[in-house]
Amino acid sequence: MTESIDTMTVRDAIYGRCSVRAYAPEQIDHLTLSTVLAAAVRAPTAMHGEPWQFVIIQDADVLKRLSDRAKELISADAARLHPHRGGLDIFSQTGFNVFYDARTLVIICTKIAGHFALADCWLAAQNLMLAAHAMGLGTCVIGSAALALNLPDVKLELGIPPETTAVAPIIVGKPRSQTLPSARNEPIIVAWR
Ligand SMILES: Cc1cc2nc3c(=O)[nH]c(=O)nc-3n(C[C@H](O)[C@H](O)[C@H](O)COP(=O)(O)O)c2cc1C
Repeated sequence: MTESIDTMTVRDAIYGRCSVRAYAPEQIDHLTLSTVLAAAVRAPTAMHGEPWQFVIIQDADVLKRLSDRAKELISADAARLHPHRGGLDIFSQTGFNVFYDARTLVIICTKIAGHFALADCWLAAQNLMLAAHAMGLGTCVIGSAALALNLPDVKLELGIPPETTAVAPIIVGKPRSQTLPSARNEPIIVAWR
């Protein structure tokens, strides 16, 4: 049973959220997903444009195919652009799934081009992740899937209109275990007049 969005303070949501990379096998239910999407669209939006659109993928075969496609693209790019850099080797490992075997992927897309629309989508992404955390769910942005999600044939398969851009792929699910938030540097103030 997922917790209510109302049980956590803003402080606890902001400071407790962290990227989750191991998920329990249970699928999240429709009501839970609707609740986090409703929180996402409360984000500020330039000129009230509300450019976001959402694609939800819960089909395990589709997620596996997408992961394979993303790995192919990243491995090819890594070999071409960073032949001596480690850390990207994981993308060529057969068992690695870029979605960490999460059962739900939410892709925040924009129907409008431009910096403001992208900003709106990322603000919606943060709302979604904080709301999910407040409900006891884990999330992780999977930027490594963005290239694959914008390929014309992938868009066609997923039902993403050609003029729509996939911006923020985010996995959502019940965490398999507790993850602790990572550290941050202090804010750097370069001017304060
Ligand atoms: C734009 C963006 C892309 C990211 N892409 C990935 C990714 O492809 N795979 C992954 O495991 N984490 C990804 N992350 C998560 C970051 O690694 C994570 O946010 C960072 O290490 C800080 O950890 P925290 O989220 O636990 O605070 C991404 C985060 C952002 C904001």
